[in-house]
Amino acid sequence: MNNIVYLDHSATTPVHPKVITAMVEMMEEDYGNPSSLHRMGMVAEKKIRKAREQVAEVLGVKSKEIIFTSGGTEANNLAIRGIALQYANRGKHLITTTIEHPSVLNTFKELETEGFTVTYLNVDREGFIQIDQLKEALIPGTILVSVMHVNNEIGSVQPIQQIGELIKAFDHRTFFHVDAIQSFSKTELDLSQMKIDLLTISGHKIHGPKGIGALYVNEKINLKPQLYGGGQERNIRSGTENVPGIIGLGLAVELIAEEQKSKIDKLRKLKAWFLEEVTKQIDDVKINGPASIEDIYSEKSTPQIINLSFPGLKAEVLLHALEDFEIYVSTGSACHSRNSEPSHVLQAIKLSGRELESAIRISLGYWTRREELEYLLQHLPGLVSELRILMQR
Ligand SMILES: Cc1ncc(COP(=O)(O)O)c(C=O)c1O
Repeated sequence: MNNIVYLDHSATTPVHPKVITAMVEMMEEDYGNPSSLHRMGMVAEKKIRKAREQVAEVLGVKSKEIIFTSGGTEANNLAIRGIALQYANRGKHLITTTIEHPSVLNTFKELETEGFTVTYLNVDREGFIQIDQLKEALIPGTILVSVMHVNNEIGSVQPIQQIGELIKAFDHRTFFHVDAIQSFSKTELDLSQMKIDLLTISGHKIHGPKGIGALYVNEKINLKPQLYGGGQERNIRSGTENVPGIIGLGLAVELIAEEQKSKIDKLRKLKAWFLEEVTKQIDDVKINGPASIEDIYSEKSTPQIINLSFPGLKAEVLLHALEDFEIYVSTGSACHSRNSEPSHVLQAIKLSGRELESAIRISLGYWTRREELEYLLQHLPGLVSELRILMQR
């Protein structure tokens, strides 16, 4: 196989060719500022309106409830800070989990320095929060709960429907934010059926461009802006819109929605087959996250993320050894891989030191083919045993 085998889709995805074409057209021809009053401005504005409708339709919400941002990180910051600072008069208690993405965790850490109290829910060894712990954590004065849908490192899927119902039964005024960046297009998500007030998605995880994201904000919420300026995005997020990015995101969402059902089934089968093979062909492999075959075929596990430890070797060395064969995987999440700190997610699920240092993430995409995983399996067992022998010396 001469082509590259890209298995790092949870870090980012290749952009869909139709998305590239639409974006280039925007940059070459329809480059007007959507705030301009002339025809070119109107064209850009109309295209943004269409993208907003595309995203809203797939999420099952109203288009005015979609706010475009510079990506998932900004959308998470806006959701969390926007609620905390706007509704602090009702209470200053916030709840999240220990396995959130840094764009959520570090936002909560910052709010702690600004006088808020945060409860961080632990997860079990497969990466699930305990509903009872959430029940205990909710107190009068809890204004926001933020729980990610799918974890980006180990693929555990939190029961967000149940969590939403629990929160609202406790107090309908407590807001619920979901980081759905890794779940969008990989799990069923119909917001009209769920008690979610705010939800984040990001373009580059779904074959759209980088640097564009969207936040769903229930129309009843009065979110405190985090950027002030010309009043774009209903005054919630000022700044001239990233028109090509927005158009790219809208189209990516629409394209992916058409394929979703068949691709989810395909990915689930690929994942189950790969895990069966890898555990057969390599001794002492640990599957991190939901691991049983029932879980892999259930709603508890996301179909695209596989996290494995090969105790006795260093993940980074394996990553580079695979790279020599043009196979691209990651250690932990991409956000951590340049960071020498061990992954907070793998620590939260209580991996041993040897499991922690040898964990790699293989993340599949809509276009991943079985032959690519077969190619990986041609090299992985040999490399693992070579590296284990080297480590023993
Ligand atoms: C779960 C999760 N949240 C947030 C982000 C950040 O999104 P963005 O890269 O668009 O800022 C990521 C990206 O890795 C992610 O996986």
